Amino acid sequence: MQNRFLLALVFSVVAVGVSQSVALNIRTPDIDFYKLYNNPEAHISLKGRRTTSERIAAHGYPAEHHHIVTEDGYIVGVFRIPYSHKLQNQNEYRPIVLIQHGLLSCSDGWILTGPDDALAFMLADAGYDVWLGNARGNTYSKNHTSLSTEHPYFWRFSWHEIGHYDIAAMIDYALKTNGQGQKAIHYVGHSQGTTVFFTLMSTRPEYNEKIKTAHMFAPIAIMTNLESPFVRAVAPYLGQRNAYSLLFSCQEFIPHNEFLLTLLFNFCEPDQMLRPTCDSLIGDEGGRTNVTVTPEQLATHPAGCSTNQMIHYLQEQQSGHFRQYDHGTAKNLEVYGSETPPDYPVEEITSKVYLWYGLNDELAAVEDVLALADRLPNKDVRLMEDPLWDHGDFASNWKVREYLNEPVIKIMQEFEDAYN
Ligand SMILES: *[C@@H]1O[C@H](CO)[C@@H](O)[C@H](O)[C@H]1NC(C)=O
Ligand SMILES: *[C@@H]1O[C@H](CO)[C@@H](O)[C@H](O)[C@H]1NC(C)=O
Repeated sequence: MQNRFLLALVFSVVAVGVSQSVALNIRTPDIDFYKLYNNPEAHISLKGRRTTSERIAAHGYPAEHHHIVTEDGYIVGVFRIPYSHKLQNQNEYRPIVLIQHGLLSCSDGWILTGPDDALAFMLADAGYDVWLGNARGNTYSKNHTSLSTEHPYFWRFSWHEIGHYDIAAMIDYALKTNGQGQKAIHYVGHSQGTTVFFTLMSTRPEYNEKIKTAHMFAPIAIMTNLESPFVRAVAPYLGQRNAYSLLFSCQEFIPHNEFLLTLLFNFCEPDQMLRPTCDSLIGDEGGRTNVTVTPEQLATHPAGCSTNQMIHYLQEQQSGHFRQYDHGTAKNLEVYGSETPPDYPVEEITSKVYLWYGLNDELAAVEDVLALADRLPNKDVRLMEDPLWDHGDFASNWKVREYLNEPVIKIMQEFEDAYN
């Protein structure tokens, strides 16, 4: 029991490290977690949480909430900003764009910085039909045609299934629902949102035709050189097939709850062994992020996932391969017909892929991004100019509009101008 708890703790630290990725941005010197945890208002806001569509509507934009059923019976919650109230362009051609969050994040991650800076709003105001995906298992996608989320089988998926089924279903559903006869979409993914794209496009190559441009923020596929000390510390245990990883597989992994806030606080106490970890998480890095948004990020993240998603990533880190889930030799033989899982044939991704990466990214290491780029036939590699640009900056750097969102929209617009 005690071991299990210890492992859970360790795992949580990894998650917190990984979720820096995912727009959980807690690197402000001003936050006192203890105060936050004891603040009755924080508790109220956690309970009365608003959905992505309510948050979108609060800014005056039209917002829709769709429930999309995947081929394997999961029901994912997807939000849409169908047009811009500022443009009143509901009857005009609006190119579809699907935006997909990172590990432990959700659709809220794309709107929290508000209409001036957040990619979703900027795209709506540029005339796009904007779709915000949610991976199975997160806050908005705990739903299934026959399985209860209490059933362990519900959690028997990794990011492989998110790419192979959820993203495929979202693309097809958006194309159909848009109703303008569009045959392809623009795609944006952050972190795991890139992994699931590579997964889908390499295992179901027919989906490449449905992509106009694809933007990978902090691409994660090959993980050999990743620097995160948490992941490096835990991967040798949980990234291998053993009692630990078996014990932790197929479970829901920290959905948003107050327990996590307490945990964070405990990690941050000065006499704790993990204090350096905490410093790196909440330490000030020169005021590079918009801290106005931090409370909202804390209220919406982490949004939960299956432990298998974590395990699958740790397996990649250990093996140096970008390949399917390792079930162990016997089951691999049964599932894949080989002792080791097959690699994702990323060479077959023919759609145009833009790889946006930074020099200071603790999860998407430069060498790994470039090794992936080498294997992609149709890519455009974009290094972020700012040498301090890290994994979380893709979500909440205070200049994200200028450095990232505007250039991305420009590329999409050039594509549209050339083909229309
Ligand atoms: C689950 O999916 C059904 C069918 O689409 C939908 O009506 C329902 O609101 C969903 N429930 C949740 C909790 O998302
Ligand atoms: C920070 O975020 C707030 C809330 O979205 C926004 O109003 C403000 O303009 C942002 N500040 C900067 C410097 O980007």
